[in-house]
Amino acid sequence: MAISKSIPNFIMDRTPMTLERTFSIIKPDATARNLTGKINAVIENTGLRIVAQKRICWTRAQAEKFYEEHKERSFYRELVVFMTSGPIVCQVLEGENAIMKYRDIMGATNPAEANAGTIRKDFAKSIGENSVHGSDSPESAEREIGLNFDNSEIVG
Ligand code: CDP
Ligand code: MG
Repeated sequence: MAISKSIPNFIMDRTPMTLERTFSIIKPDATARNLTGKINAVIENTGLRIVAQKRICWTRAQAEKFYEEHKERSFYRELVVFMTSGPIVCQVLEGENAIMKYRDIMGATNPAEANAGTIRKDFAKSIGENSVHGSDSPESAEREIGLNFDNSEIVG
């Protein structure tokens, strides 16, 4: 297009920064082993900012609703029992491409398949007790943040 010819390449090639928010959980297997600080250090070292954080216990109804997309899966019951077995740390993380960036540093669902240096490789106990949750899309992030935080709790 004519317009692109008149704009220098170094401007055209620059990828625009997309500041995103994602929802994170430090799961009961990790809070039980006092790993909140270690996991938060990994998060902050990648440049993501923890803009909201609270340590709570979910009710069964909260866990069921949060994971309702997995309702028909064989692991659903066990997952709900696990996620209500102890405290969790719910967080909103903010940064450039936060959703995919956090998925990358979390590692694969099954720690046996997770890359070296990821949270799940370093800390997860099993495919179920895998230490962290992170939203998988902008739609999930919006839904999951909304289920767990009031706007007034996200403080920057
Ligand atoms: O958490 P992630 O998005 O990586 O995985 P998922 O497929 O959305 O599954 C949600 C959670 O269910 C996992 O993080 C595990 O805690 C649990 N799960 C399980 O217990 N057994 C499986 N075969 C798959 C998932
Ligand atoms: Mg998932």
